[in-house]
Amino acid sequence: MKTFTQLEDANGYPCLPNLQDLKRKNKISMLTRGLILDKDAIEKIMKVFNNEMKLGLSKNPTAKSSLQMENTFIPELPDGTENGYFMALDLGGTHCRVLLVHLKDGLQEEPLVQYYDVPENIRLGPGTQLFDFLAAKIHNFMERNDLLHLHLPLGFTFSFPMVQKALDVGVLVTWTKSFNCSGVVGNDAVKMLNEAIARRKDLHVNVVAILNDTTGTLVQGAYLNSKCGIGLILGTGSNACYMEKSANVEKWSDNKNVSQVIIDCEWGAFGDNGVLDFIKTDFDRQVDANSLLVNSFTFEKYFSGQYMGEVVRVILVKLIDEGHLFEGKKPIKLMKKQSFITAYISQIESDKEDTYNTKAVLKEFDILDEASEEDIQIIRYICSIISVRAALLISVCIASLLIHMDRQETVIAVDGSLFKYHPKLPSLMNKHIEALAKEHKFKLILAEDGSGKGAGLIAAIATRLTKSKSSNGSSHD
Ligand code: BGC
Repeated sequence: MKTFTQLEDANGYPCLPNLQDLKRKNKISMLTRGLILDKDAIEKIMKVFNNEMKLGLSKNPTAKSSLQMENTFIPELPDGTENGYFMALDLGGTHCRVLLVHLKDGLQEEPLVQYYDVPENIRLGPGTQLFDFLAAKIHNFMERNDLLHLHLPLGFTFSFPMVQKALDVGVLVTWTKSFNCSGVVGNDAVKMLNEAIARRKDLHVNVVAILNDTTGTLVQGAYLNSKCGIGLILGTGSNACYMEKSANVEKWSDNKNVSQVIIDCEWGAFGDNGVLDFIKTDFDRQVDANSLLVNSFTFEKYFSGQYMGEVVRVILVKLIDEGHLFEGKKPIKLMKKQSFITAYISQIESDKEDTYNTKAVLKEFDILDEASEEDIQIIRYICSIISVRAALLISVCIASLLIHMDRQETVIAVDGSLFKYHPKLPSLMNKHIEALAKEHKFKLILAEDGSGKGAGLIAAIATRLTKSKSSNGSSHD
């Protein structure tokens, strides 16, 4: 039997393996057909994304866009004049980080970093408890590093959709990923963090900026390469931001004094208004139904780290139910929601000629002995089509941004575990972006820890902006 990896279509989708039972092959082909995006679908997604982008930027949109296109109030990138010590707090996943960033004439020293687990009871509990927890971690970090006597500015990376009213005001729109704390939606996260800091009475940090992880990544990317114009997160969640001409941000009435600003697309919610329903499959509906926050974050649920494994799992369960895998035997562990984590896809996708990694994953689910050689090839096929779909969806949106920005060359700073550990995603993205934005030169770079280091840089930029504001005696943003 030929392995499917030897055969691919123009978009990189593998062909279904040659199964002995032709009927079985046809059935699997029918069940998975909706996951294969063809040229028409790709063109349509691109059109829809552009339209949503325009609606999201306009002052009086004719319809509500699913792209928030949020103003970050960051009008400048690092310019090499940043000096001093800056704290950063990075919250977005099941770990949070506290950092101390030292800048000397714009140059970063390797920051001090401490990771902390954010347990489920904190992620799902009352908001004040979350912010008290964060203040306690800032205190722990400063105490460990003998910093408690210092007064330091802090950049707060809060990787959730916010309405920003200023660089230091971020009102939470909705929780995403694995968070659902009560009493935070509709409130300013900076205010809540400042209040928690004040409650302690033993910390001298001042939250000068709130930002999204994409924004931190763009700014860190700009530090690494001055051509950086897009920040992209492919991790637990997914999102992108880019440098926009402020004249294009019609909804920002007070945009006269700056020529550009970072816009946070919040593309995780792309399609929440139904505009992407033409690519939604029953599998995607099932993933949504199994998620913490149903009926939201359509785009993110197609491929981000929190969900991609679940997409594969629901497909495998369907194939088992229909008798196409493991002769219909139901592996108990695989029946559990969210049991097939996205890291397994990366593991399976790193198999080449042999099937060593796929077998290791099957062993985790106690199904190695039940799995035939054909079952193994089918599982690899499913992981592969879901990976290609992910790459296409991400690439379509990135290509749209490149065309919209219309620069000679744009560097895209990327961070997140999906990008770092998926063995094929970066090369698939390179291929697809190149094909979709033919005239636009681009380069993907890894901006590791961008959301943390970038927060330090943004705290420095915020400090510089405040200084120039007070010395000019006029408003800068
Ligand atoms: C959030 C974004 C964030 C992304 C990546 C999404 O769920 O809404 O704000 O940038 O995850 O962390």
